[in-house]
Order: sequence, then C-alpha cells, then structure tokens
Amino acid sequence: MTNMTNRTAFVTGASRGIGRACAQALSEAGARVVLAARDTAKLEEAAMQIPGATCVAIDLASHESIKEAFAKAGKIDILVNNAGITKDGLAMRMKKDDWDSVLATNLTGAFLAIQQVLPAMLKARWGRIINISSLVGQTGNPGQANYVASKAGLIGLTKSLAQEIASRSVTVNAVAPGFIETDMTAALSDEVKSTLLAHIPLQRYGKAEDVAAAVRFLASEEAGYITGHVLDVNGGMYM
Ligand code: NAI
Repeated sequence: MTNMTNRTAFVTGASRGIGRACAQALSEAGARVVLAARDTAKLEEAAMQIPGATCVAIDLASHESIKEAFAKAGKIDILVNNAGITKDGLAMRMKKDDWDSVLATNLTGAFLAIQQVLPAMLKARWGRIINISSLVGQTGNPGQANYVASKAGLIGLTKSLAQEIASRSVTVNAVAPGFIETDMTAALSDEVKSTLLAHIPLQRYGKAEDVAAAVRFLASEEAGYITGHVLDVNGGMYM
C-alpha cells in the first residue's frame, strides 16, 4: 500500500460524489488533503469525516477565485481536477452561455488550476496531476456537445502537458469514468439507467469509490512511470 504521508493533495469539487471519495481515499493513503468547492458548508461537513483535512472555497469558473484558493492552500504535490458540471441540450439549440459555462468550469478551470501548482511541482521534481474526464469524452454523446468537448479537451490537455513536463518527473493522467452513481447521474430516468446497465459488461453501475481507487493509484509513488494515460473506470462499457 502506497504511503503518501509527506504529500499534500488538492481535490476540486470535493464536497460530494467522486471528489469527496477521492479526498477520502488519498487521506487513507496518508496524504494531507485540501478539499475545494464552491459550497463551503457542504465542504466542511465532508472534511469532518476526513482526518486532518482542510477546506478552501473555489469557483473554477473564476480565475481570481482559483488564484486565491491556491494561495491559501500552499504547496500542492497532487492535484485532482474533479469539479465538473453539465448543461445538456441539442447543439442546434444550445445557448452560448451553456456552452461557455461548461467549458469554463470543466476545462479552463482545470487548466488554470494546473498553472497554479506547476511551478512548485517542477521545482520539487515530483508531482501528480489527475484530470477527471469521462467515457463520453472518448465516445461522444448526443445532447452533450459542450460537456463532451470539455472532457475530450481534458484528454488533449493531459497528453500535451504530460509531454511538456515529463522530464521533471511530474506525471499527468486522466481518469475516464463511465456511469457512476452520484448526484450528477441521479437525475437520469429509470428507463435511461436500465438501458445503460444493459451496456455495462460488469453488470453494475460504478461507485465513487471505484473512481477514487484509480485516482489514488495514479497519485501513488508506484505509478511514477505512467504519464499521459487515460484510465477507463467504466465496467467495460467502452474498451
Ligand atoms: P457531482 O455533481 O456530484 O459533484 C461535482 C462537484 O463539483 C461538486 O462538489 C460541485 O460543488 C463541484 N463544482 C461544480 N462546479 C464547480 C465550480 N464552478 N467551482 C468549484 N466546484 C464546482 O458530480 P460527480 O458525479 O461527483 O462528478 C465528478 C466529476 O466526475 C465531474 O467532473 C464529472 O463530469 C465526472 N464524471 C462523472 C460521471 C458520473 O457518472 N457521475 C461519469 C464521468 C465523469
């Protein structure tokens, strides 16, 4: 089992769902964890369950807020870009605001967060950046052009950045979850859910902990020779 006792991890969107599970898993591996999201009340509630965790407010749609949050957090060794939103609709009728806000939070926000942690990681010659993409970032999905563009964009960002900074032993990887039971997917109808289930070879929906285990591995010392990779956590739904 990996030991992360001398590492600090920053997890965005950590108030619930996959982000919260990632923070929990990294803490169990020994890391000091900084939980970040917009809703500080929910964040503090989540942090109470995680020994030694601290909270910081962040709005990934705001460059100023991102800079302030990382200034408060101090040196970061492991960054998990997890925060994400959906604003679904057919492309033909999609409002520009719905395109812009999804790209701003999911893709630009992740990029700006990376810029905050990079100088210290490069100097330390150690770092782990993990971007939470999605299965649909690889396959496409009708009704989600904005979300899919942001998630595919994260994969491109991951691979480019991985090549830029590999010489400093900083790794950059993406995790692409399939259907994970969280608030984000709770809104789907039973009909949609059972259609999805029929396409999952492992015959169950994913749990936030399934994604967190992959993130913890990529953040570990043992994953030091893996970079620019997209790790599918999707029950075999897409291979
Ligand atoms: P969720 O909706 O339960 O949680 C999202 C988190 O992001 C919340 O903590 C929320 O406060 C935070 N957040 C949203 N906008 C923010 C902003 N502007 N600034 C700061 N924080 C913000 O979502 P879930 O399901 O836990 O998803 C986490 C990530 O995993 C997302 O990036 C999502 O796209 C991705 N994902 C989820 C899948 C699923 O089936 N649930 C499948 C594939 C990817």
